[in-house]
Amino acid sequence: MQSAILRASGLYTPPHSISNEELVVSFNAWVAQENEARSAAIARGDVVALQESSSEFIEKASGIKSRFVVEKQGVLDPQRMSPRLEARPDDALSIEAEIGVAAALDALSAAGLSGADVDGVICAASNMQRPYPAIAIEIQAAIGARGWAFDMNVACSSATFGIEMAANAVRSGSARRVLVVNPEITSAHLEWRDRDCHFIFGDVATATLIERGDISSGGWEILGGQLATQFSNSIRNNFGFLNPAEDADTNARDKRFRQEGRKVFKEVCPMAAAHIEAHLADLGFAPGGVRRFWLHQANLAMNQLIARKLLGREATLDDAPVILDRYANTASAGSVIAFHLHEKDLARGDIGVLCSFGAGYSIGSLVLKKR
Ligand code: COA
Repeated sequence: MQSAILRASGLYTPPHSISNEELVVSFNAWVAQENEARSAAIARGDVVALQESSSEFIEKASGIKSRFVVEKQGVLDPQRMSPRLEARPDDALSIEAEIGVAAALDALSAAGLSGADVDGVICAASNMQRPYPAIAIEIQAAIGARGWAFDMNVACSSATFGIEMAANAVRSGSARRVLVVNPEITSAHLEWRDRDCHFIFGDVATATLIERGDISSGGWEILGGQLATQFSNSIRNNFGFLNPAEDADTNARDKRFRQEGRKVFKEVCPMAAAHIEAHLADLGFAPGGVRRFWLHQANLAMNQLIARKLLGREATLDDAPVILDRYANTASAGSVIAFHLHEKDLARGDIGVLCSFGAGYSIGSLVLKKR
């Protein structure tokens, strides 16, 4: 069996950033407007007044200071609270494919390769802008890749699950190189009017090029991947193709991201730490022998807790880099951004763990060794 190499990664960062302060000004303007409109019902006690958000709470509860978005004005408009994207004709590149292509080309350029060198494209993300044709096939055509392409979705674990699928294709000999692309336009499935979660997400696209060992130089060998899922309704989004058949309101609260944040925190942290520890043990490693953990970026305290459980001490930014302060939670792309921005300083032979966790629940870990 061939070895699989994570040869290169790519990143596309949208041009617009929203600080917590800007976000809270717009959210609180919306709250004032809603409370004004419902003042009689509030006075009667029929409904409770909406509460304001606070940038201090956001940073303290999550570690997030700002997030990037593909469109800013619509998100910050209290009359809209959602990005404003223009529908594109069928013969134009879709926005999700467009940002995916930018990340894919960044990864290819880092490897000194072009689309024609790629045998397969997996678009792995927490949401696709349409069911078909696959966004992956559109990306495949745009970069001139050969072979096959398909979309897959395991929410925040899409990237690690996609990389493991790509590594298996390379190991089995069915492909020489597979691109895994993660275009995350989370701003369009976040409920910006929900105080409990309006600050959580940001937009981005990442890509990783997985290559067969015998034709590869440099990069990281994927020593092993371990994937796990366990059904949970604690993070859920009911938007889907049955909505019209069910006469459902597609703007209803349950048609966007919603979660029980505390429950997720409590349930997922021990699962993720145990998963990583068991995966490392299978490969003959202990957590203390890992040079770096590139963890999913949902919440700073969550990452600190997982790293502390693994290392038996407080983790430094060198042990487990943080990018969510600038990027927020970018769903499946978070751990890949952490890897992309914080892998070049490591030395040959160093061991790293790239790990995602999120809705499903789903956990995916990849143990990597620098070549
Ligand atoms: N501004 C100000 N106060 C807020 C607020 C906001 N935007 N949102 C909530 N609060 C208040 C609540 O009303 C509550 O007040 P109370 O104690 O008077 O009732 C208090 O802050 C705590 O709220 P809670 O929802 O328990 O916050 P938390 O400490 O659990 O932090 C999250 C919220 C979402 C940051 C945190 O639960 C989390 O990150 N969970 C994991 C999320 C995750 O990883 N999801 C995966 C997605 S892929």
